[in-house]
Amino acid sequence: MRVIPMTAPWDTVLQRTLLWLAAASALACQGSSKSASAATARDTAAKAATFVAANWRPPTEADIPNDSLGAAIRRGLYLIRFTPESLPAYATSSLRCTSCHQNDGTKASAAPLTGAHARYPKYMTRSGAVIGLADRVNYCFTRSLAGNVLPPESRQMNDILAYLAFISHDVPVGTNLAGASGLVSMKDTLVGDLARGETIFKRECVACHQADGQGNAAFPALWGPKSFSIGASMAREERAASFVWHNMPQSKPGSLTPQEAFDVAAFVNSHPRPDSPGKETDWPSGGAPKDVPYATKGHEPHRPPASLLARRTPDRAIVPTPPEVDGGAKREH
Ligand code: HEC
Ligand code: HEC
Repeated sequence: MRVIPMTAPWDTVLQRTLLWLAAASALACQGSSKSASAATARDTAAKAATFVAANWRPPTEADIPNDSLGAAIRRGLYLIRFTPESLPAYATSSLRCTSCHQNDGTKASAAPLTGAHARYPKYMTRSGAVIGLADRVNYCFTRSLAGNVLPPESRQMNDILAYLAFISHDVPVGTNLAGASGLVSMKDTLVGDLARGETIFKRECVACHQADGQGNAAFPALWGPKSFSIGASMAREERAASFVWHNMPQSKPGSLTPQEAFDVAAFVNSHPRPDSPGKETDWPSGGAPKDVPYATKGHEPHRPPASLLARRTPDRAIVPTPPEVDGGAKREH
């Protein structure tokens, strides 16, 4: 190979040309990457602008990809379906996540989890703080499942979050899907009658939830040590009435009148159930909804249950406030 002396004048020209070409192509690259990211942003904006909540359908189990992410999503789905079986140290009641979040968390009238990924972090008046999705999941572990805090850094929490992200696919941040604010509000707030509620319970509910309300291997408990705690939304009369009216009896939902739903909800919630440690600090700025069954700032309990059952590990039943770091100012290298 011939060695070209770099000092040769013609070579300087060539070198300059090469440099110019390199610079030009770098510019071109920059330009193209800029326009590519602009295109992505435009696509996202266009998608968000054209997103029609009413037409959107969540992906199903069959849509879970067959790759590593898909494996995590599938594990997350099975965790919410088989919670006490999979996580007995954390889910100590007979309830699974899907006992309330029916159809794998996709049923609009049963506090759907679809779109939850796009709704967090959000401010929760009950906690008086901005809450991330893992903490929100843990509120259900500790209150709705009357269980223990699942370590946010655990693989299992990650899997549940992967599933929640999956069933929120394509939902733009800030979109209000049906059921985005939990159980659908009942049109009229009625007052449940306990005696009528008992009659309805005996007629409509015992076939599955059993005469003592404790359920069995196939059906979740409605009260007692294996049911949801007093700190769960379901322990509120109007929330429970909404769930029951829209979804129960499981075999013929919609067959009760709204009044009957309030009656049976009041009856179910009049029974003993697990306590929820720390509940008195809920709604720290006041303004608890009328049907909250325990005392909070400026709020008198609404029809509290007959008694509260002590939790075995009360310190694990409270979702800790996220710790603040010191910013590294004092860190030594
Ligand atoms: C006893 C019923 C019940 C059980 C069991 C339950 N939840 Fe919930 N969950 C609710 C209700 C009700 C709401 C909505 C609050 C409302 O309507 O006031 C909710 C809300 C949520 C939210 C927030 C949704 C949003 O977009 O704001 C998440 C996430 C969640 N639950 C996850 C779970 C997971 C995961 C489990 C299992 C570990 C679980 N839940 C078990 C009743 C339950
Ligand atoms: C045909 C059986 C069946 C009947 C009848 C039935 N349920 Fe349920 N119920 C279920 C099942 C199953 C679930 C769990 C949801 C799921 O797996 O989809 C459930 C869940 C619930 C829950 C939330 C979970 C829990 O344990 O707290 C409540 C509350 C509830 N039912 C109340 C009632 C009431 C009140 C009635 C009577 C009006 C009733 N159900 C009648 C089968 C039934």
